[in-house]
Amino acid sequence: MTIRWGIASTGKISTSMAQALAGIDGAEIVAVGSRSQSAADEFAQQHSIGRAHGSHSELCADPDVDVIYIGSPHSEHRSMTIEALEAGKHVLCEKAFALNRNDAEAMIEAAKQNDRFLMEAMWSWFMPCWHEIRGRIEAGEIGDIVTLDATFALDLPDPDGRHRRRDIGGGALLDLGIYPLSIARFLLGEPTDVRALGRLTADGVDASVAGSLLHQSGAVTTFSTSLDATSDLTARIAGTGGRIEIHAPFWFPTAFTVTVDGTSETIEIPNRGLAHEAEHVMERIRAGHIESDVQTWAATLANMGLMDEIRRQVGVIYPSEEGDAG
Ligand SMILES: NC(=O)c1ccc[n+]([C@@H]2O[C@H](COP(=O)([O-])OP(=O)(O)OC[C@H]3O[C@@H](n4cnc5c(N)ncnc54)[C@H](OP(=O)(O)O)[C@@H]3O)[C@@H](O)[C@H]2O)c1
Repeated sequence: MTIRWGIASTGKISTSMAQALAGIDGAEIVAVGSRSQSAADEFAQQHSIGRAHGSHSELCADPDVDVIYIGSPHSEHRSMTIEALEAGKHVLCEKAFALNRNDAEAMIEAAKQNDRFLMEAMWSWFMPCWHEIRGRIEAGEIGDIVTLDATFALDLPDPDGRHRRRDIGGGALLDLGIYPLSIARFLLGEPTDVRALGRLTADGVDASVAGSLLHQSGAVTTFSTSLDATSDLTARIAGTGGRIEIHAPFWFPTAFTVTVDGTSETIEIPNRGLAHEAEHVMERIRAGHIESDVQTWAATLANMGLMDEIRRQVGVIYPSEEGDAG
């Protein structure tokens, strides 16, 4: 059964997703939606998409669309996702899934109410290297995990760019810091405690954040993120019997090195970028599920709750949260 996709928004990641979907058997992009008709037309022409809609509502009303991929800024995810679900569409919504846990809960509730599939597009959780590393850790290849250390910092100086705008959910954490948190949660489980410090921009989003997580097993994660410099983009895991270095870029790697007893082995496993998560969505929809069994709603809610707590400690509040108790 062909799964017919609609793409909502015409920015950078939507371009990557259109390219990924073009290479997947059984996937067809039938429509694109944008806030402007001209941007929709241009995107449709570039990617050979049959229909271009000049609003999200028109895309949601398109009867030929089965699933909508949402590639807008974080501030728009809640309303665009809920509108699509209420129109009867399945939804794959980019990370960060929402601005906060409350918004994520409302989105998941809409999926349940409308009996439609909904998943956070945390593509890293579908990377073959990540699954291979988790399998090796679970098999005890490097003993008990003691530390994990990951930084995702990129030099993004544009003061008007999406990453620095508080009004559309900017800040290092939701955009980049989510990846160090994701590898930690993927490999070591949800943390039981978190401590974070950060420095804000004049606009009030996080320019830099560093922190620690404590996991159930006693393992600790150190993570950091920034919009002001570019880090080496690797991640390191140390265990009682060895260590693993995930090569850059650690959030979509093609190689990692395992060192045990002073002997290192580098394992290379290619990936197909965003295609892995898209194929998973299609499999789940075909099988009649409304939730992923990899990127579960519980995992998404835990992720959002963790980032809420980090933002609380660092002092980042988005406009829609102003006036909220606590
Ligand atoms: N998975 C990944 O590797 C990855 C990588 C980068 C980003 N992302 C995520 O993808 C999302 C978009 O990131 P991006 O880098 O693609 O952003 P971008 O290039 O700035 O594109 C975002 C698009 O969203 C639409 N949009 C809707 N409401 C908007 C508003 N109020 N202000 C500005 N744009 C608005 C615009 O398209 P129209 O003009 O057509 O409406 C815009 O082009 C974010 O959630 C980000 O975290 C994921």
